[in-house]
Amino acid sequence: EHLALWGGRFSSGPSPELARLSKSTQFDWRLADDDIAGSRAHARALGRAGLLTPDELDRMEKALDELQYQVDTGTFTPNEDDEDEATALERGLLAIAGDELGGKLRAGRSRNDQIATLIRMWLRRQSRTLAHQLLRLCYALVDQSVKAGRTVMPGRTHMQHAQPVLLAHQLMAHVWPLLRDVERLRDWDRRCDASPYGSGALAGNTLGLEPMAVARELGFSTVTENSIDGTAARDLVAEFSFVMAMTGVDISRLSEEIIIWNSQEFGFVTLDDAYSTGSSIMPQKKNPDIAELARGKAGRLIGDLTGLLATLKGLPTAYARDLQEDKEAVFDQVDTLEVLLPAFTGMVATMTFDHDRLETEAPTGFALATDIAEWLVKQGVPFRHAHELSGACVKAAETRHEELWDLTDDDFIEIFHDFLPADQAIGVREVLSTEGSVAARAGKGGTAPTRVREQIVSAKTLMEQL
Ligand code: ARG
Repeated sequence: EHLALWGGRFSSGPSPELARLSKSTQFDWRLADDDIAGSRAHARALGRAGLLTPDELDRMEKALDELQYQVDTGTFTPNEDDEDEATALERGLLAIAGDELGGKLRAGRSRNDQIATLIRMWLRRQSRTLAHQLLRLCYALVDQSVKAGRTVMPGRTHMQHAQPVLLAHQLMAHVWPLLRDVERLRDWDRRCDASPYGSGALAGNTLGLEPMAVARELGFSTVTENSIDGTAARDLVAEFSFVMAMTGVDISRLSEEIIIWNSQEFGFVTLDDAYSTGSSIMPQKKNPDIAELARGKAGRLIGDLTGLLATLKGLPTAYARDLQEDKEAVFDQVDTLEVLLPAFTGMVATMTFDHDRLETEAPTGFALATDIAEWLVKQGVPFRHAHELSGACVKAAETRHEELWDLTDDDFIEIFHDFLPADQAIGVREVLSTEGSVAARAGKGGTAPTRVREQIVSAKTLMEQL
């Protein structure tokens, strides 16, 4: 069988050990449809160049139809001796069209320009499916943000209570990175819009074929400018892989949040039964497995990217067989995300928040200390002193195991007395509410309800464009 591809100067086929190592059909067979599409376009290019007569072209196209049919129905599959998807399909075509006609299709192309084109075609299609799935997740988060209304929760930095924020604001903070991932995919797709078909093995083809016509038929608007780059570069595969890894990382951050919020001590969120799992031994358990799997799979997505970059590092610039290793990394990433995203979206869409608990916890842990300091600034106190005075309020409350709003008028009068008269000092009470605290953060991008409503509108507008 192998003698069919490069028999001329070889006196024997590959050893079984080499064949086993070399074989890639177990993962690259998923490129078969794109390969056949490429063959169709290539056959027409051969026809236009006068290298296939109109009758031969007609028979070739019918043979490719039959081959596609056999692939679709599973009646044709790679066998043990096929090295890669291209070798297998060549065997299939020869069986249908006969050696004479079938053997003409290989003219003017190489598996090097073929595979470089096929991986682009396949990834571009996946990028659209994934963008769609990511947008569905964003819609689920936006819906939750709308449902969250004006509910306030503890905003944290370093995991410590920092300042109260709207639950909607916190949820929307996960929408924006995911929308950037979608934008990255769209942007990548445009950069990937050039076909290497016609680059041959590395130097181009001598047969007067028109790569532009082939490119158009395969959904590309142009052809790669350099045939060596076209066959050897995998930066586009690596860039796609980065977006997969980044998406995994972005989702893992939301996962971590959901896992913590779902813990007994927090009790902020409850997951729907259909999107949680139980324990085989502890009857009371309800576990956030989807979020944990998402967090875990982020590691795998990063690993795929890291492995791919390591493969590409230092490669000489023209095709080398190392490049065959690009595929499993991105196939694994796509398979991982295409299973993960729908489950994750289902979990997000169906989770319910304990609004009372969020509201109760929001101001605790002296989360209004910044509001006191900023109120003092508005009264004319320099921020350096305002920060200290607010700190003194925290200290007083903390010593008595109280919260800031438990401090008495006399406490405030005494703490502020170097800077404010008594009647003014007690005015601080007006900012000692979470409602006032969030409403005051009214600059663009802030957590004030009016700003968050605007934010949701701009996210929706962007989502419609993406
Ligand atoms: N299967 C190879 C790959 O995936 C393409 C074949 C090119 N092989 C070669 N010996 N030039 O990269």
